[in-house]
Amino acid sequence: MVATFGLLLLFGLILQAVAADDARRIRIATAHSALTLLVGEDGRVYELGYGSVNKNGFSHERTPAREQEFYPQAGDGFVLEPALQATHADGNVSTDLIYLRHKAQVVTTNISLTRIELKDPAYQFFVTLCLKAYASEDVIEQWTEIRNGENGAVTLDRFASSAPLLHAKEYWLTQFQGDYRREATLSEEKLTPGTKVLDSKIGTRATRYRIPSFILSLNGPAQEDSGEVFGGSLAWPGSFQMAFDVDWNNHLRALCGINPFGEEYHLKPGETFTTPAMLWTWSNEGKGQVSRNFHRWARSYGIRDGDTPRPVLLNNWEATEFNFNEKIIVSLFDGAKELGADLFLLDDGWFGNAHARTNDAAGLGDWQVNTNRLPHGLSYLAAQANQRGIRFGIWLEPEMVDPASDLYELHPEWAIGQPHRAPDLFRNQLGLDLSRPAVRDFVWQSIDDTLKPNPGITYLKWDANRYVTQPGSTYLPAGEQSHLLVDYNFALLNIMSQLAKNYPQVTAMLCSGGGGRVDYGALKYFHTFWPSDNTDPRDRVFIQWGFSHFFPAITMSDHVTKMGNRPLKFALDVAMSGTLGMDLDVSKLSADERATVAAGIALYKNELCDMTLRGNLYRLESPYDHPRAALDFVASDGSRAVLFVYQLQDAANKTVKLRGLDPQMRYRIDEVNLPAGEKSKLAANGQTIDGATLMRDGLVPPCQKEFESSVIELAGEK
Ligand code: DGJ
Repeated sequence: MVATFGLLLLFGLILQAVAADDARRIRIATAHSALTLLVGEDGRVYELGYGSVNKNGFSHERTPAREQEFYPQAGDGFVLEPALQATHADGNVSTDLIYLRHKAQVVTTNISLTRIELKDPAYQFFVTLCLKAYASEDVIEQWTEIRNGENGAVTLDRFASSAPLLHAKEYWLTQFQGDYRREATLSEEKLTPGTKVLDSKIGTRATRYRIPSFILSLNGPAQEDSGEVFGGSLAWPGSFQMAFDVDWNNHLRALCGINPFGEEYHLKPGETFTTPAMLWTWSNEGKGQVSRNFHRWARSYGIRDGDTPRPVLLNNWEATEFNFNEKIIVSLFDGAKELGADLFLLDDGWFGNAHARTNDAAGLGDWQVNTNRLPHGLSYLAAQANQRGIRFGIWLEPEMVDPASDLYELHPEWAIGQPHRAPDLFRNQLGLDLSRPAVRDFVWQSIDDTLKPNPGITYLKWDANRYVTQPGSTYLPAGEQSHLLVDYNFALLNIMSQLAKNYPQVTAMLCSGGGGRVDYGALKYFHTFWPSDNTDPRDRVFIQWGFSHFFPAITMSDHVTKMGNRPLKFALDVAMSGTLGMDLDVSKLSADERATVAAGIALYKNELCDMTLRGNLYRLESPYDHPRAALDFVASDGSRAVLFVYQLQDAANKTVKLRGLDPQMRYRIDEVNLPAGEKSKLAANGQTIDGATLMRDGLVPPCQKEFESSVIELAGEK
């Protein structure tokens, strides 16, 4: 009896302890992943694990070691890389963050928002950790709000958006680095103890040398279809820092946010600093699923009109560069129409009068139509295009100024630059200082004054061809020069959001001297981005492959051009796996070439784009490891699919195993986009094969020679 009572008492105590533990746990869950936090008995917030819903990786002590803190702060006993470093109004360089309360709110049936409020017990200094969970996409978006309630300014030296701790035997990091014309080049390495930093310090359009997105694979190199993999992407177009710190416990902390280098921020009393958002996703089915999570998230929440196919456009840049006039432009409309384009995009060179933009040395900042070249103005051009049944779009580079411009003559102080330093020109231009309110108004006005009087303009390509090498502002006081690049990027995002809000009918492309600005902060206000000025389809296979890890095909403007002199079919097949467009002088194409492009566009519009732009991507064979690249897109209900194969070196033809199909479904196989009159050499052409067999045994695409390619449609039959 006594023994039974003792047991019951013990059981009761255990239950109480579990309930108390549960009350101290904060769980942010998606369909397949969970981030579990614990409020320790010391009031600090610790991480118990992030990954599988069923697994918590770390110590479950009631007060774990400081290394396990979820958002570590510098200065008072913490010895690793901190997420937050602040100097308080009284000069104290340490911060302690203690839990006050948290609140989980249901935003929609798919989205929940958890806000965890922390405070320094000695200061009126508040930090709120915000975590938005997108259940069905398995994405967690995290940002931090930092409020200064002290009597004087607080300096933020570091202010990460997110700094989760991961737990595995090994960590493999894939980064996507590059430069102009070789954007998003993939490289993977095993992390060793210490800190590996991936960053950008160039302030604006900061992805020129690296994108703020990465893949982290646990316990081995990332595989497409297996293994635990995290994907991270910072929604910020400015300088960023991703610091991967493997500590003495072999835990990995991934600190991600605005680059603190040269960007310390003085927060006035009463002010709140909100960091950009960091997006995380996790899968135990490899990086392929991580990409599909990002893609689904982007289409639903991350970009404009994520479910609407983009217009097929003809751009004049590679065909004419600056050498055009009204007659030439109008003459190009007919070619665009003949090929089946939906829209004509007039690129750089349409503006500037006293400083005409006839080359890249003058005119930026003077956004008035050049009356010499285009005497009837932009609405006339739009009307001419519309008469031929196509829409009209225009190029702008609103953040920039050329010293040879009316604007610079009037306002040299509006350019970013430093005292006692000769202006460091890049492509002959300077950036405008968006920290200055008058400049912000001017930039918005330039956009508005171009679009409002010309309602026929329904497409905008927003370019930015230089980054910042001399951060300095004549507007900001001496003590706040380090605010420039932070204020610049927040102001930029504001203007971009104003564009999206005021001009919902204008489709927008984010461009930046190729892919110099590719991040979900800016993309939120755009439909597509321009991955690279390198449109040689051979190189584009790699560039598109890299970006596809984070960005869905609907966001990637991929144009058919003559660059590299590759077979036209190859160029078309490569561009068709993204948002198809063209940059061709139609008058220089032969009749056969015109027919080939027109047939390709019709096929894309009528059949393929539904799968490529809305379906699920499976990367099948990487061009980094194989003599060819292969990928398939499967409609979300599994009823249709399309396989693309790009041969990059001569090699014997081999089987490609498809993925993502419905195993039970029977698919009719048809090779498409064949040269006129040519029959498919695909053995299975015209056959009907079930999904399970196609995924197990595959198909043998008829590609062997360099630059052969094949597009194979699979139509499900009930
Ligand atoms: C750089 C862009 O990437 C190109 O597509 C083109 O728009 C030029 N700028 C125009 O100056």
